[in-house]
Amino acid sequence: MVDLHSHILPALDDGAKDVDEALQMLRLAKTQGVDTMVATPHYHSAVNTIDTFIQTRNAAYLSLINTIETQEEPVPEIMLGAEVYLTPELAESESLNALCMGRSKGILLEMPYDIWYDWVYKAIYQIAAKNRVVPVMAHLERYSVRPGKMESIEKLIAMNVYIQINAASLFDHSMWKTIKRFFVLSDRIVLASDAHDMADRISLMDQACDKIAKKFGKETLQAVMSNADRLLLENR
Ligand SMILES: [Fe+2]
Repeated sequence: MVDLHSHILPALDDGAKDVDEALQMLRLAKTQGVDTMVATPHYHSAVNTIDTFIQTRNAAYLSLINTIETQEEPVPEIMLGAEVYLTPELAESESLNALCMGRSKGILLEMPYDIWYDWVYKAIYQIAAKNRVVPVMAHLERYSVRPGKMESIEKLIAMNVYIQINAASLFDHSMWKTIKRFFVLSDRIVLASDAHDMADRISLMDQACDKIAKKFGKETLQAVMSNADRLLLENR
């Protein structure tokens, strides 16, 4: 199984605080059936250039890989990606391939937390058209808690984007109605952990898979898993 949203790289953002915690997160994911984990540290165009971000990310990755090589316990394969915050500036960039997941065309986009004015939809269209990448909307269900937001979310879904649901959201009552609606509206749903640590924001991938199979059927779960596989295999 693929987990395409995680904060496993050590001492980089609000994810794993050090290599030891990163290793614990990887081992847990492996026991949950995850074979491939995409490391998606936060990227914000107002904070970093893409080049600086990539350098910092690669250094954290190397520190983790060097330790993994000394360990015997199996861990998932790590691919590099980013959780890219949507800004108007981002839409102007023509080098977003560097932020995609592994060697795929999939780019994990984090939507703004305030009102989605027209520029938001235009930016997503522009990003996909200019860079020929496939937008994957990070934890889209989380935006539904604001009153009146569902209409904006459905407008986005109509753009045929991939919808990434956080495993933990399947156990959050406030998200349940939205998640059910997503399964009605879209067949482009992927599940990911968005794991940050071994305490409050832990991976729940195995439990989430069980719940999808129980509530929506095994075929739906299979389709969700296949969507993630397909996203990572879509080479540049
Ligand atoms: Fe995240």
